[in-house]
Amino acid sequence: MKQATRDFLNTPLEIAGRRIEKRLVLAPMSGLGNVALREVLSGYGGFGLLFMEMCSARGLPQENRRVSSVFQWRDVELPYLVCQIFGSSPEDMAAAARRIEAEGFFGVDLNFGCSVSRICKRNCGAALLRTPDQAVRIVEAVRRAVSLPVWVKFRTGWEDRREPAVDLARRFEAAGADALTFHPRVAPDRRARPPRWGYIQTVKQAVGIPVFGNGNVFTEADCENIIEQTGCDGVSLGRVAVAKPWVFAEWTSGTPYGKEAYVEMLHRFIDLLEFYYEPARAMRLFRKSSVYMAAFFRFGHGFHKRFLGAAGFSDVRMAVDAFFDQAPEMSLKPNMNLF
Ligand SMILES: Cc1cc2nc3c(=O)[nH]c(=O)nc-3n(C[C@H](O)[C@H](O)[C@H](O)COP(=O)(O)O)c2cc1C
Repeated sequence: MKQATRDFLNTPLEIAGRRIEKRLVLAPMSGLGNVALREVLSGYGGFGLLFMEMCSARGLPQENRRVSSVFQWRDVELPYLVCQIFGSSPEDMAAAARRIEAEGFFGVDLNFGCSVSRICKRNCGAALLRTPDQAVRIVEAVRRAVSLPVWVKFRTGWEDRREPAVDLARRFEAAGADALTFHPRVAPDRRARPPRWGYIQTVKQAVGIPVFGNGNVFTEADCENIIEQTGCDGVSLGRVAVAKPWVFAEWTSGTPYGKEAYVEMLHRFIDLLEFYYEPARAMRLFRKSSVYMAAFFRFGHGFHKRFLGAAGFSDVRMAVDAFFDQAPEMSLKPNMNLF
């Protein structure tokens, strides 16, 4: 990565009058961006913000953070934590945003991108891109309800055309959004085809608020390319941040992390999952994340299989040590069958 790109990643950015120190942020990922992963990430640093897993707006005002498995955080994270919500009504979303502001989060993020049927059937997530007026009403209602930074994360829409996305970006800005994260894929596409970064450039040029580019940024070269090709103000990293939680630190500092970092990180991650969750949930979350962690190894598939068959975390810990004792070969790009 060129020094100029690294300098850019380390240049503070102002969002609605609040400053973030770095231009790389963790993308919201349900089942992955949990409190344990975020504690691991926080140990390395190098990011500007972390986005939480999506939370349902409907239950949020009454949600008990000591019981919820997603509306859960450490207070020390609040200055750099953004809570993402999904919902279909402006009233629910506004009420949830009020709770998020009262708790002291950095910001709130509105999910207009999730395309899984469970969410879309309830007219939430990417389904709202079919009813742009309703999406805009949600942004307006949240804007009226809170003064903390309001983000919108959205996709191209349901057809592969850039104009509707650009039009929506403009309308979100006019409705009071302070920043956008744009993932340039059509909604039914579950990451099979590459995202169209060119659309990010068009969105960026159409609005005055910061735009974070997202989608298939796995290496330093990808990061440099997305910035150069789109002119985005920052980059939102998803799966690669699960695979390599030090990625923010590595790319902003230029100091590479090697295989040893994996062993240490995996043991730390397991410790934290065991601390925060009951055993069955901890194991489910570990299996979900570990497939991404295994993806940057040549025989990562076999490595991950060992986790799937493990009876408990002592087995998993042994599998980790045994795998790394064999000096496994790392690859620059992830194995896309695992990603
Ligand atoms: C397992 C998983 C869960 C996700 N959950 C969410 C979510 O809750 N909210 C959201 O806006 N996007 C979600 N996404 C999409 C990511 O935020 C991101 O847009 C996508 O993974 C592309 O970025 P990447 O190529 O850097 O991973 C999820 C993605 C994955 C892989």
